[in-house]
Amino acid sequence: MRVGILTGGGDCPGLNAAIRAVVRKGEQVYGDELFGFYDAWDGVRERRFTELNVATLRGMLPKGGTMLGTRRGSPYDHATGVQEVVDTFREMQLDALVVIGGNGSLSVACKLHADRNLPIVGIPKTIDNDVVGTDVTFGFNTAVQIATDAIDRLHTTAESHDRVMVVEVMGRDSGWIATYAGIAGGATAILIPEQPFDIDAVCAQLRSRHERGRYASIVVVAEGAEPLEGSMHSRDKVLDQFGHVRLGGVAQTIANAIEERTGFESRMVLLGHIQRGGTPTAFDRVLSTRYGVAAIDAVHAGAWGHMVAMRGGEVMTAPLSEAVGRTRPVDMHLYNEVAGVFFG
Ligand code: F6P
Repeated sequence: MRVGILTGGGDCPGLNAAIRAVVRKGEQVYGDELFGFYDAWDGVRERRFTELNVATLRGMLPKGGTMLGTRRGSPYDHATGVQEVVDTFREMQLDALVVIGGNGSLSVACKLHADRNLPIVGIPKTIDNDVVGTDVTFGFNTAVQIATDAIDRLHTTAESHDRVMVVEVMGRDSGWIATYAGIAGGATAILIPEQPFDIDAVCAQLRSRHERGRYASIVVVAEGAEPLEGSMHSRDKVLDQFGHVRLGGVAQTIANAIEERTGFESRMVLLGHIQRGGTPTAFDRVLSTRYGVAAIDAVHAGAWGHMVAMRGGEVMTAPLSEAVGRTRPVDMHLYNEVAGVFFG
């Protein structure tokens, strides 16, 4: 078969490992010809691609980022975009396209399959871990490890200065990274998008900790966390060129509010894209390899309009339509009954 591959949306560690796995099994087991499109859907529309084979993927397993480049945006943003994608399938005689993406790219994949019957298989990735239909996406474990390492370092400086450190992690719609890194890093409070936070309750937790003689505290906040309405100033919404709200910076507002209300010296740290960069953890390398292998098997099984997914420890396929249009919230039992035990 002639199989195209693209990586879309925000990058994450493990993308190259997934591409490598698709190519390895595609070439060596199925005898496929493989093509990597540059810059997500733009490369498909503009027919910008490279031939992929086992030799071109050498050394890519531990490399962060994506060798194919990535973009946000969709062919549906362009008047003739969808037709250009269809033309590329025809002219390159593509039998399949493997789309490695998060919620945005997988939604586009689902829509193209539904509208034009294109033979597409998805692989879910995102550090946010918020794709519905799979228990986990690759990139998440690496981001959690990076955030946990940062929190470990912040503990010692926070203790030395008796400070509150407010650490902002990624997590646009869901608090997976914040909850996992907060548990692993021993956070006093974790603020997540799923549950508007009460700054007075956070301050009360910090005070009660200080009264017990524990001065240094770590507050982990997901970038998408919002205060209870009317409780404090909320951020101004700035949109990027694709209409996404550009997040980042809520930690500063929270650190200011904590210092004002408690008198405890506070600092903020914004981890930002550091969480998306660099080499994937062993867990993410294994997961992206399993997904890549399963995706090329799905191509040969004709599982169009499906993505590979992890459910209960097993890799399987699930309809893309299950994943689109919503995000997977954090496990609130984990947040309340496990992380919550350590708040305050
Ligand atoms: O890919 C998901 C994500 O990392 C979100 O957590 C974050 O809000 C967003 O991407 C940042 O996007 P960009 O790299 O376009 O600033």
